[in-house]
Amino acid sequence: MSPSKESDELIFFVNGKKVTERNADPEVNLLFYLRKVIRLTGTKYGCGGGDCGACTVMISRYDPISKRISHFSATACLVPICSLHGAAVTTVEGIGSTKTRIHPVQERIAKGHGTQCGFCTPGMVMSIYTLLRNHPEPSTEQIMETLGGNLCRCTGYRPIVESAKSFCPSSTCCQMNGEGKCCLDEEKNEPERKNSVCTKLYEKKEFQPLDPTQELIFPPELMVCSGLFGFMMLAREGTHPPACPQLCLCFYLLLWVTLYYVALQSIHSF
Ligand code: FES
Ligand code: FES
Repeated sequence: MSPSKESDELIFFVNGKKVTERNADPEVNLLFYLRKVIRLTGTKYGCGGGDCGACTVMISRYDPISKRISHFSATACLVPICSLHGAAVTTVEGIGSTKTRIHPVQERIAKGHGTQCGFCTPGMVMSIYTLLRNHPEPSTEQIMETLGGNLCRCTGYRPIVESAKSFCPSSTCCQMNGEGKCCLDEEKNEPERKNSVCTKLYEKKEFQPLDPTQELIFPPELMVCSGLFGFMMLAREGTHPPACPQLCLCFYLLLWVTLYYVALQSIHSF
């Protein structure tokens, strides 16, 4: 394939699979692309304007300068696919399924009665999932903030928030104070217990634990491409080559290859 053709390619990953689009339409958004082009219909179309959060997915990027992978949630209806070059997209299908194994977030929302019609559930799941990728032991405040952009029209927010709070190491909710016991079941609350109903939503010990080692890894191919791009940026910014002679040799070799490649692309684009 000629370099000029390669430069027209939009490359990103969806749930660990490489997607290559030649001559991508800049007006197409990620939600349309997921649902109509690659037929991943788990991501829902609600408002189409970034308000309801039903279309939430996780987008990951590798920063070659800091060598860190960042994960952030995004409403797919507002993301043009052309902005995704070099990114990895994770949808609700990518984190777990009833055919293989459901993810702890999916399990806890289901067992915690956090879903009725289920329309908002994929978006809720992906918002919580993204939070857990960044903070495996989130605080209650982080959970409230992360769900701030997701609307639910039928369940009510309590079971959804309570399900998510089961990932907190400590919680303000009595049923999740470490032992999975409800305060209404304790002896000291005997008088209140007679007049009250235990509002416990689930047994925490039934849940599978969150295991961050089981998550999808960032595609290594994208790390290599981003690394090359970062190298070009360093070279452009006049960063000094490394002091070690071997590294210095690699630096100039890579710089030469990169400049040669860029020059070839410029010639072909005329
Ligand atoms: S469909 Fe409502 S935020 Fe995207
Ligand atoms: S469960 Fe129906 S919209 Fe949330």
